[in-house]
Amino acid sequence: MSESPIHLRAIQSDDAEAYRHLRLEGLKLYPKAFSSDYADQVTRPMDFWTQRVSSACNSPNQIIYLAETPEGLVGTAGLVRGESPKERHNALLVGIYVKAAYQGQGLAEKLITACLEWGKVHGIQIVKLGVGAYNTAAIRLYQRLGFVQYGNEPKALWVDGEYLDEWQMAKEIMS
Ligand SMILES: CC(C)(COP(=O)(O)OP(=O)(O)OC[C@H]1O[C@@H](n2cnc3c(N)ncnc32)[C@H](O)[C@@H]1OP(=O)(O)O)[C@@H](O)C(=O)NCCC(=O)NCCS
Repeated sequence: MSESPIHLRAIQSDDAEAYRHLRLEGLKLYPKAFSSDYADQVTRPMDFWTQRVSSACNSPNQIIYLAETPEGLVGTAGLVRGESPKERHNALLVGIYVKAAYQGQGLAEKLITACLEWGKVHGIQIVKLGVGAYNTAAIRLYQRLGFVQYGNEPKALWVDGEYLDEWQMAKEIMS
């Protein structure tokens, strides 16, 4: 476990290169944990990442939080709200990743809590997420934070010759 000091902050436009690196690492090391695919994302031009990061900067529709040490980015979590006026009270928690050396220190919990606080400030009522049914560490984390399972999507992903079911979980953040 690393002892480096860790700072949490919202993403900025000049984080595109470092965010790309962190995101691709997560997709490569944990292919079962994400619907995005490493082989597809690694071929995307830098413009794709620049655009993605700039959309999350100073937006009322999405946020990406980063955990940073003096050595670089070590964790991330994002929240994206529904686009339609009928869906804007919903948001999806996405891209939750903490580097292995920094896991087990409560970092994901802090990143997600920051996303939920941002959601409250921006008037979001309910936050939803999808998590692999196999991913007991992540499910425990979400349950600890008050997320409750409301569904199960059979065969949501097909990864390395295996079908994976996905739990759908939700948490009301405004009463
Ligand atoms: C799932 C994941 C995001 C969790 O990140 P994390 O920062 O390790 O999460 P936390 O530290 O908040 O919690 C994990 C464990 O550490 C424990 N922990 C929390 N704070 C701690 C501390 N200060 N000291 C020791 N252990 C601690 C928690 O109790 C928890 O243990 P448990 O699962 O037995 O209950 C991370 O393992 C990961 O990136 N995995 C690969 C990608 C992935 O699965 N993403 C989720 C996709 S839905």
